[in-house]
Amino acid sequence: MSPQPPKPKHVLVDPELRIYVGDCRKLLPRIPECAAGEVDLIFADPPFNWQVKYDEWHDGLPREEYLRFTEEWLDACIEALAPTGSMWVNIPDDTAAEIVVHLKKRGLTMINWCVWHFRFGQNRMGSFIMSKVHALYFVKDPDARTWNADAILEPSDRATTYFDPRTHNKAEGPNGMRVPMDVWYGKYWGRIQGNNKERRAKHENQLPEVYLERVIRACSNEGDLLLDPFTGSGTTPVVAHALKRRFLGTEYSAANAKSAFERTEAGPIRVGQGVINQSTAIFPPRGVGAKTRARLGQQG
Ligand SMILES: C[S@@+](CC[C@H](N)C(=O)[O-])C[C@H]1O[C@@H](n2cnc3c(N)ncnc32)[C@H](O)[C@@H]1O
Repeated sequence: MSPQPPKPKHVLVDPELRIYVGDCRKLLPRIPECAAGEVDLIFADPPFNWQVKYDEWHDGLPREEYLRFTEEWLDACIEALAPTGSMWVNIPDDTAAEIVVHLKKRGLTMINWCVWHFRFGQNRMGSFIMSKVHALYFVKDPDARTWNADAILEPSDRATTYFDPRTHNKAEGPNGMRVPMDVWYGKYWGRIQGNNKERRAKHENQLPEVYLERVIRACSNEGDLLLDPFTGSGTTPVVAHALKRRFLGTEYSAANAKSAFERTEAGPIRVGQGVINQSTAIFPPRGVGAKTRARLGQQG
């Protein structure tokens, strides 16, 4: 007998959205689409076990317990994922290796090990400053995944900085555009803090919208079903809903779930503003002649 489906705490229609309050390890097996393995895209940004004040979740488990917790939620997500589905995990240095090994052992294939680079890590003298989190991109079947390269192209350095005419002739990455590199940074990619317009009160670990916009556009289509087991401040649902994806979320804290729902209703700040298509070149354009620049349609 299949278990009784849990009751969502927050619901929207068109596109459908449901947010459940509780422990994702207990909820996922009871949510019908998850039990049936129908989720097209999972984005998971778990607690890092860094003693963050998450309203209700205790973010300071003994290491062994944290690793057990990690494997349990990963397994619940694998069950929920469709055979053609993709799964992303946002995780720092100290547990990235364990997650990669576990997902590989469970038969998933890694497509990319991306790095989200930010420049506001806390100063320290004893070792290099932490300035990255890993964005791990796994699939069940590499030949059947959804991959929309055209939806996430950005200007290539070869075009904007070096004025290389070959970048305008290539079949892949046309008109000087390219699929972004696997290290992600740029104007709107910083940690969300201070007076950033995106900032939600009481959420120390909010991700930038542009991060979710890239993942969701690249790995899903309108109408697809997305899941975020650690909904937090609601970055995944607000972007997913704006991009017309269906959404399922779980969140341990009732207050966070409410805040995420209200944020989703209010809508995103930057999605659709072209921020995922901006150049990330770090050098000024090379000094080429005005004639060449004019031919390439570039400003020097
Ligand atoms: C790192 S934050 C997620 C941040 C989110 N990506 C955002 O941009 O706002 C982790 C969230 O997971 C929630 N959480 C922790 N353990 C959980 C569990 N077992 N099940 C569901 N949610 C949990 C915490 O309350 C917290 O809101």
